[in-house]
Amino acid sequence: MSDTLAALIAAARDAATRAYAPYSGFHVGAALLLKNGDVVTGANVENASYGLTLCAETTAIAKIANEGWIGELAEVAIIGGRPDGDNLIGSDPVNPCGRCRQILNEAAERSERDILVHCASGDGKTVNSYKLSELLPAAFGPKDLGLLD
Ligand code: THU
Repeated sequence: MSDTLAALIAAARDAATRAYAPYSGFHVGAALLLKNGDVVTGANVENASYGLTLCAETTAIAKIANEGWIGELAEVAIIGGRPDGDNLIGSDPVNPCGRCRQILNEAAERSERDILVHCASGDGKTVNSYKLSELLPAAFGPKDLGLLD
């Protein structure tokens, strides 16, 4: 694994410590690598009205969009599991949910990149990397509304 990927996964793991997930007890962190090398993170935010939960990827994308950086995305790392001190318990990589794939696609199209999405297990032993186009083939996005060249 490259140093850049290891650092991105470490940032996602750190973000997961700030999850607000009292209902599921499942803490997810997402780290967005920007084209300039900066990293922006997010974690899931749950709600007593369960269906209103915001996923880690969504909170992270909202942060870059609000900074004017939605077209600056290069790569994404996601990690999740049940917290145990500073560790996350879980051997299955966390794959982005369907809604998050669509939200990631918005930034990917704006960034003019088929971004890599690195999906890590909480125990850190498994990382599966995909192109977003594999996770969300034939996506609908800003290009379909004539907003891109
Ligand atoms: N979750 C994420 O943050 N990202 C995903 O892509 C999948 C699910 C969160 C939502 C909820 O707080 C918890 O994981 C359990 O579903």
